[in-house]
Amino acid sequence: MASDRPNRRPNTRSSRLVDRSDAFVFFGATGDLAYKQIFPALAGLIRDEGFALPIIGVARSGDLESLRERARQSLAAHGFADEAVARALTDRLRYVKGSDDDVETFHALRRELGKARHPLHYLAIPPDLFGEVVDNLQASGCATGARIIVEKPFGRDLASAMALHETIHTAFAEDAVFRIDHYLGKEPVQNLLYFRFANSFLEPIWNRDRIASVQINMPEEFGVDDRGAFYDQAGAIRDVVQNHLLQVVSLLAMEPPSGHTPEAIRNEQFKVLDSIRPLAPDDIVRGQYRGYLDVKGVAPQSRVETFAALRLHVDTWRWGGVPFYIRTGKSLPVTVTEVLVELKRPPQSVFGEALPPDADYFRFRLTPDMSISLGSRAKKPGEAMVGEAVELFASHQSGTERPPYQRLIGDATRGDQSLFSREDWVEAAWRVVDGVLDATTAPCVYEPGTWGPPEAANVLQHGDRWHDPVVQPGAADEATIVAPAASTAK
Ligand code: BG6
Repeated sequence: MASDRPNRRPNTRSSRLVDRSDAFVFFGATGDLAYKQIFPALAGLIRDEGFALPIIGVARSGDLESLRERARQSLAAHGFADEAVARALTDRLRYVKGSDDDVETFHALRRELGKARHPLHYLAIPPDLFGEVVDNLQASGCATGARIIVEKPFGRDLASAMALHETIHTAFAEDAVFRIDHYLGKEPVQNLLYFRFANSFLEPIWNRDRIASVQINMPEEFGVDDRGAFYDQAGAIRDVVQNHLLQVVSLLAMEPPSGHTPEAIRNEQFKVLDSIRPLAPDDIVRGQYRGYLDVKGVAPQSRVETFAALRLHVDTWRWGGVPFYIRTGKSLPVTVTEVLVELKRPPQSVFGEALPPDADYFRFRLTPDMSISLGSRAKKPGEAMVGEAVELFASHQSGTERPPYQRLIGDATRGDQSLFSREDWVEAAWRVVDGVLDATTAPCVYEPGTWGPPEAANVLQHGDRWHDPVVQPGAADEATIVAPAASTAK
């Protein structure tokens, strides 16, 4: 299996850049990502960490005053009531108007950077523009001593991701490249890593001997709404499986890192991905919610999936034979991300009870709140040796974390790559999904508000079931979580 993989090592050429960035530049300054994530992240950095870098927006339209106004609107829409923070951000804002394919724009940027020698460039623009921007950054001297942040999706398949990495590496060494996957900046995702390796009780059971299956559910209640044009070029696999959900798999399945460097962790994350068998058509069921074809920007006969259920094989000594299931989709009943690690049944039913197959499990709630719990059986009070399902909560926290983009942009200015996707990881992730990216058959249609098409059960093995995570109103604020219900799907 591994033999036909291109044997490509990450680009380890070093930029030898150890200094903090001294200016923050963002391309696509008038776009959606800047409005929804970058302005609030910068405001959070100013408020919490005294972030004091010059901030330069680059866009085709508008002027400095309209960009300031957009920043103010973004902050108001994202809960920044503090006038002083908004003023600190808008006062620091500068603006370069111009086009990504015009080198003059980049000369103007170099002038605007003034004495800054280590700018951090954030490409909040579509990936097909990266090539031009990187060339022009280099031609204008803006790439010298600089770092670059790029947004997912990193390419749209393995070949384009490799080409993109080549392009970026013409101007930036790997240690100057920060590929954002905001899932890695989420506190509960980091807690998966922490919980696994800061406790000794887990390791003896965290393998094929005691674990029957692992499933990750990421249902989203909302549809594609105003993102039709983007989403119809992507679909669920490119949008969240190849990146966010495979990151979660790599943290769950990785070996203990050898050493204390961030690189040691990223090495183990890569090894997991490298050992996953490329998906075959039988490993996946794709769905599309009824009504998707009416969304603005979606092609009339689109076969793009808004739902995917899949089975991964992690071919390692630790995990051989343990299925890893992923289920995600738009217009499902709730918005939540949850991992369920199901333990094997006891070898005998000592008390003559018919034990449910999934009585014992670990449950990790990643969004909208964070919890870790252990599902088990306990005796019901009374004379009979009869039990009931109980959940022991190991930890529960509600949304007090720093927003992921704030954390990640702050890390990038310090040159800390721990929570960014490495080139080899990204390519290994594409290798897993590459064979099933483009539908050869129509997706199964499902009704909005349901758990997707019943065919999703086809990827399950050994009598496994989908577990439908349950969220009660206010779950992000209070501990109002209840144990998962077994799906009706199988
Ligand atoms: C984004 C996807 O990367 O992640 C969206 O493009 C998805 O489609 C989102 O809804 C989920 O992230 P979060 O942080 O909202 O759970």
